[in-house]
Amino acid sequence: MAIAKERRSLLVSTVMVFFVFNAHHLQVMSCPDVQATNCTDQDRKLLEFPLNLEYLEAEFFLFGALGFGLDIVAPNLTMGGPSPIGAQKANLDPFTRDIILQFAWQEVGHLRAIKKTVKGFARPQLDLSKKAFAKVMDKAFGRKFVPPFNPYANSYNYLIASYLVPYVGLTGYVGANPKLQCPASRKLVAGLLGVESGQDAVIRGMLYAQAGHIVYPYGVTVAAFTNKISDLRNKLGKSGVKDEGLVVPKAMGAEGQVIGNVLVGDEMSLAFDRTPEEILRIVYGSGNESVPGGFYPKGADGEIAKSYLVTVGNKV
Ligand SMILES: *[C@@H]1O[C@H](CO)[C@@H](O)[C@H](O)[C@H]1NC(C)=O
Ligand SMILES: *[C@@H]1O[C@H](CO)[C@@H](O)[C@H](O)[C@H]1NC(C)=O
Ligand SMILES: *[C@@H]1O[C@H](CO)[C@@H](O)[C@H](O)[C@H]1NC(C)=O
Repeated sequence: MAIAKERRSLLVSTVMVFFVFNAHHLQVMSCPDVQATNCTDQDRKLLEFPLNLEYLEAEFFLFGALGFGLDIVAPNLTMGGPSPIGAQKANLDPFTRDIILQFAWQEVGHLRAIKKTVKGFARPQLDLSKKAFAKVMDKAFGRKFVPPFNPYANSYNYLIASYLVPYVGLTGYVGANPKLQCPASRKLVAGLLGVESGQDAVIRGMLYAQAGHIVYPYGVTVAAFTNKISDLRNKLGKSGVKDEGLVVPKAMGAEGQVIGNVLVGDEMSLAFDRTPEEILRIVYGSGNESVPGGFYPKGADGEIAKSYLVTVGNKV
């Protein structure tokens, strides 16, 4: 009978829907824990890479606010990696210190979140010395600052130095997201991206409020510092403009309408993306993912970064 036939085909299609749903569901479910699948392997490499940046952020913010870092507050997250070189407590006003301390603990959380998903690697050797930051500033301005830029000297300097930090991670998360296979990986990256973007926004907002302030003794405004740092990162990244300072030509502002640029965005005000290679070129300060230096004197860790260090070696 017609009705029975209809019912049967309904039953068949219902079963098929369930089957398709379950097959999809199973694939999704099998993703996070099966180390052997390629899906997980690609995701693993992409998820472990940002540990390099999260270690740097955690140490810079912890030391800046407290005068000590992961070795004291979460030694097992370091997995025995060496202590950072030259990190120290910054001379911060109470408001700035309050915010940096919040960021510091957030970074500890980020390290825990990534390590819960991928085993990762030990803390790489980080150089957070005054000298490492001074080198970046000299390079950004194309001249030697006298006295050398000291990120720990006061709140202005520390916030300018902090301008260097979450934004690079942010662009990396935007870049990694479409390459990730598993929903669980994308969820983690979206969660990290949300908070990194927030940190970047707070730092930029605090700097924007003082954009015209002339940083002593360099005779350079806060806005000029951010523009020079962003220009340097664009140059080192070698992939066009993906970085903008606090004040831009009107054509680069949101919808070509404004010169204020408290947040960075492309022509549709979407966040820029960067690949791990671009990020390595920037954080090494060398413009070359195979030539370590800058904040990572011995190179970054993880499979992606190490694949470029074959001739240089990455052992401590
Ligand atoms: C998955 O990865 C393994 C080992 O890396 C490789 O041998 C295999 O061909 C890959 N399979 C697919 C479908 O890409
Ligand atoms: C660190 O080690 C302690 C003691 O072995 C353990 O209780 C704690 O859960 C570990 N924490 C992390 C984040 O692995
Ligand atoms: C990057 O450095 C490596 C190792 O020194 C070198 O072989 C390569 O040519 C460099 N690449 C660029 C684009 O300069």
